[in-house]
Amino acid sequence: MTEPKDKMEKIISLAKRRGFIYQGSEIYGGLSGTWDYGPLGVLLKENIKALWLKMFRDSLDNIYPIDASILMSPKVWEASGHVAGFADPMVECQNRNCKDKRHRVDHLLPPDIYKEILNRLNNPSVVDRLNARVSTEVAGEMPQNSKEEFSGQGDFLTRKAIEEKIGEFETRRTGVIMQSALMENKIKCPSCGHVNWGVPKQFNMMFKTFIGAAEDEASISYLRPETAQGIFTNFKNVIDSFHPKMPFGMAQVGKAFRNEISPRDFLFRVREMEQMEVEYFVKEKDWEEAFDFWREKMNTFAQALGIFDYIEHEISKEELAHYSKRTIDFEFNYPFGQKELWGLAYRTDHDLKSHNASSGVDLQYFDEESGERFTPHVIEPSLGVDRTVLATLLSAYKENELGGEARVCLKLPKNIAPVRAAVFPLLKNKPELVSKAREVYTELKKNFPNIEFDDNGNIGKRYRRQDEIGTPFCITIDFDTLGDPSTSSGQGTPELKNTVTVRDRDTGEQKRVKIEDLKEAIR
Ligand code: GAP
Repeated sequence: MTEPKDKMEKIISLAKRRGFIYQGSEIYGGLSGTWDYGPLGVLLKENIKALWLKMFRDSLDNIYPIDASILMSPKVWEASGHVAGFADPMVECQNRNCKDKRHRVDHLLPPDIYKEILNRLNNPSVVDRLNARVSTEVAGEMPQNSKEEFSGQGDFLTRKAIEEKIGEFETRRTGVIMQSALMENKIKCPSCGHVNWGVPKQFNMMFKTFIGAAEDEASISYLRPETAQGIFTNFKNVIDSFHPKMPFGMAQVGKAFRNEISPRDFLFRVREMEQMEVEYFVKEKDWEEAFDFWREKMNTFAQALGIFDYIEHEISKEELAHYSKRTIDFEFNYPFGQKELWGLAYRTDHDLKSHNASSGVDLQYFDEESGERFTPHVIEPSLGVDRTVLATLLSAYKENELGGEARVCLKLPKNIAPVRAAVFPLLKNKPELVSKAREVYTELKKNFPNIEFDDNGNIGKRYRRQDEIGTPFCITIDFDTLGDPSTSSGQGTPELKNTVTVRDRDTGEQKRVKIEDLKEAIR
């Protein structure tokens, strides 16, 4: 029985050895949080994305594709709340000799303690009450960021300066509460084992960059941390071009970037990833029905990928993202613990309303049938491609015996396996077998792009190699295929001419199939 930790190491090693996934920038010692997909990884990932596109977009008649830019106006991220709120609580170990000082507080503290802290922070405090008073007293009297001054007790401060002071105060208060929790619960640094923590700070995870030649405040932009916002910003474009009826969705697959504090666990927490997201627009009253619809789809998708070892976890009120009223995390049982694989969120009308207010562009929907004008609500199934690849590999990985021999086998669903079938000549040094095998290979390749030709080593070794990368079918061309006893071996059986053996990856069972029926057999 493989221990969980060993399993992770074995998957990482197999992925590298067999050309699925390599460490990013490996020849320079690696760049943390980045992974490069090799030839088989690309094929596996493409097959997973193709299945998602089929199930989440193309099999439905009300989902519109979109492919938005990775670079977007910084105003997008201000309006969405990411500039202010897309942050994780980061704490530094104070031991001078510690090699990996930075950690996330929510990863260090046990979940119940962290939840209690969030509860405390959400409860009205002196600061919150002060904040509320300042907001009501000042709002309406002064425009946002006004240069005017108003008189508090003592100093004259602008509204912006007051808000900044309160912000600093709140951050400090949060930090102190979290630091006490770490110290009181004697939480050890995972890297050096010391219990000596600084005051946690909120760390914004968006990657900043500069647009154009100048590197100043005005030219700051961000690499998108989620694909979703590219959908919201194109909502009006799609409505104007296609006049979709409610409900409808927009789907996007693309890269997203997050400057994670501590990327780890292979593909689980990376800094550059891909997401597959649908934003599904509904009338407010219909959100629950739509939520259940996408929940069901996600479960069906998991099963289609061979992923079964997961649970649906209802996110508590305290832990919900700033935009969500309900979220379910699909949590997979990884070797390093039960953690999020995908999320399904009810984002309300938060995003469209924020972009409407911030851009001044009307993002309401006009329902011609009822004559209503309203801001649609949104259900969002959000799936990370890389975590899906990892969960798929972990679910498929098997060590077992076949024909008395130990083997490693990736029992990937047949339609997502990177190589659909491998074609072998029984012997490498018999030109008549090799040329027939090439002929079969070339014919199949016209219909299936991912067919492999393999004549290295003996048949047993070839089977092991293909099992290890999850190839569902191995096709062997032997003397019977030639069916001519007059060939050099004199072994061909005339009745079996133009048949091949097809071996099933999972059972090892071999069947004789006519070459003309091969396409159908492996489809
Ligand atoms: N648009 C909503 C959104 O982005 P999220 O829960 O932050 O929500 C969605 O991310 C999915 O993206 C996650 O469920 C996960 O599959 C994937 N994901 C998020 N951060 C990731 C990271 N650092 N590395 C790998 N995958 C990640």
